[in-house]
Amino acid sequence: MRVQVAIIGAGPAGLTLGRLLERAGVDAVIIERRSAEYVLGRIRAGVLEQSSVDLLEAIGVGGRMRQEGIPHDGVELSFDGDMLRIVFQDLVGRKVMIYGQTEVTRDLMDARAATGARTIYEAENVSLHDLDGASPKVRYVKDGVSHEISCDFIAGCDGSHGISRASIPESAIQTFERIYRFGWLGVLVDKPPVADELIYAHHERGFALCSMRSHTRSRYYIQVGTEEKVEEWSDDRFWDELRARLNPDVAERLQTGKSIEKSIAPLRSFVAEPLRFGRLFLAGDAAHIVPPTGAKGLNMALQDVRVLAEALVEHYTERSNAGIDTYSARVLNRTWKTERFSWWMTSLLHTFPETGPFGRRIQRAEFDYLAASRIAQQSLAENYTGLET
Ligand code: APR
Ligand code: PHB
Repeated sequence: MRVQVAIIGAGPAGLTLGRLLERAGVDAVIIERRSAEYVLGRIRAGVLEQSSVDLLEAIGVGGRMRQEGIPHDGVELSFDGDMLRIVFQDLVGRKVMIYGQTEVTRDLMDARAATGARTIYEAENVSLHDLDGASPKVRYVKDGVSHEISCDFIAGCDGSHGISRASIPESAIQTFERIYRFGWLGVLVDKPPVADELIYAHHERGFALCSMRSHTRSRYYIQVGTEEKVEEWSDDRFWDELRARLNPDVAERLQTGKSIEKSIAPLRSFVAEPLRFGRLFLAGDAAHIVPPTGAKGLNMALQDVRVLAEALVEHYTERSNAGIDTYSARVLNRTWKTERFSWWMTSLLHTFPETGPFGRRIQRAEFDYLAASRIAQQSLAENYTGLET
């Protein structure tokens, strides 16, 4: 098979890129290791920046999001029970949209199926070849048969453990990483959310987050040590610990129930540089990871592929490589600002035993500064709702 662009991975990055290219008349195929059902079974974040909402609308997959998504004007922060509402709408004139990554993925998959765009699911042993030549190749095995696709470009949208980044010679890539000594234990429950907006809580027992997927389905998280095992967390133990970390009035209102999903995710900050090797481009989680505290992972992935699609379309329609040549620098510039914000939110809201009482006083001062300064709140709001560039 020959295509213009081979996209590795059918997560939000790969599917959105596929849609953007399809609409611009660029011939692309997506190669995904898992089945569509498996991809849809992953529970991921659920906050979309305005720019993500705009992008999904622009590519014609905004219909259900418009109906079922919940616009939020702000978020609440809680510090040892003291509450502070950050009203994005007043501070920066923007909102965010609550709509799960699973739903975004489903909408993109449905749109792809409707137009007959090609996705090869359950592709085994995916490997990339001749990345620095004129015609790179993707090889894979499907149902026991080996296949080869030759193309002009490969988009590595295969997440943090994918084959794309791993195919770049070590001497051609630099990585930057921070591992946190804790993870998030998340629970999904079919109960109405405890509040109308998200609550990010710092408590001496650790961080907690009250989030939601709809008016009837809630998502809660608590900070736990990396050595903790999900089996050791019964629903009752989880709810008791969550309540202990919230403002007492909020804890009182919490509606608990049987969890329908429970898992622990480690926290990590990671960036690869550059995001290009020959004719391979990295986008989304393949390029960078943020701790989930700022809800940025999905939004970054969508913005990366918006820039990548522009660059590829420019190559085909204007015969210009300007966009391709500046892709890495443009995306990295934005990436590092978003890494900074996600790291900052993480630093403010979690407990870090290693920083001692001094560290906690600094966190308290940061919260008090936010509470008293509209300028500080504007900075949070500007970053949370999404930086322009
Ligand atoms: N070959 C083909 N596909 C692969 C391979 C491989 N070797 N390795 C991984 N994949 C697939 C995965 O199965 C997955 O479906 O690539 C896809 C990557 O999707 P995501 O991990 O969702 O990454 P991305 O599309 O960049 O989305 C960004 O936002 O909220 C965050 O981390 C969250 O997934 C999220 C992300
Ligand atoms: C979620 O709803 O899963 C969620 C929301 C906000 C975050 C992270 C995760 O910052």
